[in-house]
Amino acid sequence: MYIVFEGIVGSGKSTQSKKLVEFLCEKYGNEKILHVREPGSTPIAEDIRHLCQGKEWANELMHPLTNAYLYTAARTQTLHTVVKPALESGQIVVSDRSFLSSCAYQGEAQGLGIDTILSVNQDAIRGILPDIVFYMDIDVETALSRTFDAVWDKWEKMGSDFFHSIVRGYDKCEKLDIMKNRFIRIDASGSQQEIFERIVQKIKI
Ligand code: TMP
Repeated sequence: MYIVFEGIVGSGKSTQSKKLVEFLCEKYGNEKILHVREPGSTPIAEDIRHLCQGKEWANELMHPLTNAYLYTAARTQTLHTVVKPALESGQIVVSDRSFLSSCAYQGEAQGLGIDTILSVNQDAIRGILPDIVFYMDIDVETALSRTFDAVWDKWEKMGSDFFHSIVRGYDKCEKLDIMKNRFIRIDASGSQQEIFERIVQKIKI
């Protein structure tokens, strides 16, 4: 079982994925559950994370396609060296983000198109599709009014138009054939506990 959390910054995605991991660890034991994040969760993928979003250069902007390839490179490393072996050994994997973030951020908000992102990611994700994607559905203004973690991320300084286009990207992701019966929209308004109960209700494990 491979469970992914998606959403814009401030949607409560990381809080809820942590709560789900705690819940699953209690139910099945720590050794049965693996929590990962994209980009990241291996030393190589964490270094690529820094290049993708934690660094800016004085006289050069990163081209959106370069960004897409870098995220895909990090994803390849995480999926093929950590997630796939864990799934094969019977672990439940919970991930903060997946290729759908690339579809929404680079495909829609950065304008590359979702088809381009799917094509760039084809070999990285083949055979390793999430069983469930919990999309934390929240109004952009509410999400942006929440406080974020202190670690600098170049996307977090973008204006609300950028985040509205990311939401449009996720709406398109929901309609993708490969997401049929996998994409679950969670109302991400209300208290942490209310949101978590909505998630647990949807999970049949
Ligand atoms: P997060 O760890 O706070 O979710 O930060 C990840 C950031 O990277 C977030 O701003 C979304 C962005 N991102 C992309 O733009 N494309 C991707 O493929 C992924 C995985 C993340």
